[in-house]
Amino acid sequence: MCNFLAALDEFRVSPKFFLEFIGVFNDFVAGAFAFGRRRIHGHPPRPWPVMLTGWRRIGPHPLLLDWAKAAHPLAVRALRDTDQPLRCGGTWAVGLDLLPNAPDGGIGGVPLPWEVLGLQACALHPAQLSTIHPGYPRPSAEESEAAFRFRLKRDAAHLDGLLPIGPDRQRMIKEPHAWILGLPLTASQASPLVVWEGSHLIMQDALRAALAPHPPELWGDIDITDAYQAARARVFQTCPRIELPGGPGEAVLLHRHLIHGVAPWAKGDSAPAEGRVVAYFRPLMDSVRDWLLLD
Ligand SMILES: [Fe+2]
Repeated sequence: MCNFLAALDEFRVSPKFFLEFIGVFNDFVAGAFAFGRRRIHGHPPRPWPVMLTGWRRIGPHPLLLDWAKAAHPLAVRALRDTDQPLRCGGTWAVGLDLLPNAPDGGIGGVPLPWEVLGLQACALHPAQLSTIHPGYPRPSAEESEAAFRFRLKRDAAHLDGLLPIGPDRQRMIKEPHAWILGLPLTASQASPLVVWEGSHLIMQDALRAALAPHPPELWGDIDITDAYQAARARVFQTCPRIELPGGPGEAVLLHRHLIHGVAPWAKGDSAPAEGRVVAYFRPLMDSVRDWLLLD
């Protein structure tokens, strides 16, 4: 990756310009790919059009809007009735597994439009309903001062699927997601999803190198904290930070290795009474080995 960035510099091409060019190319390829999608078989589904930038915006599309409209009232009810505690001083509902969608992603009789998303259908969990309220983030007892500062200044940037294990909170790959799909349910630009474009390539290189000395069947039990944090620091230095606000009818697809986070609530931001709500699907792959080695 570093050699690649140096080569771009040699030819006076900024990484940001290159990635924007690749984004346009991605959209073109994704459109062409749609013609052949029905013939693609196999598991896990791999949305390869996001491979180069690590993310892709989808829509607005009327079928996604139908889905969001059907999901919204059920999401509001689920967020109201849950006993999951709010975090960040009452400004963030994590909302894990809260949306009562069907395993095929349908909700309230409205199907999830897999063809529009460019994804191969697979079994889904109840969607996470990540909900941000005014003032996010606020300090709280469950978060250290350093973690709060990181949330404020670096959008709590992270890689999904790494869990802090044991008293030393060693990062290990415990949830090998295939991809991350976000479906906004409210019309609000507040506290958008943030991605570091191209960061999945840096993270892949770093984690593959860190785990190469170990047998694949143990990869989920290896402490990768140092490699993870060093690679994330390189991401901050080299990858463009991009905010991705969205509304009902839109979706965003993230590569599973992409560094992402949530921007703090900004002055002038607004959202409906239920907050800024995004439904997330993150189906699991068969193994940590697949998670690390597949494209
Ligand atoms: Fe995440």
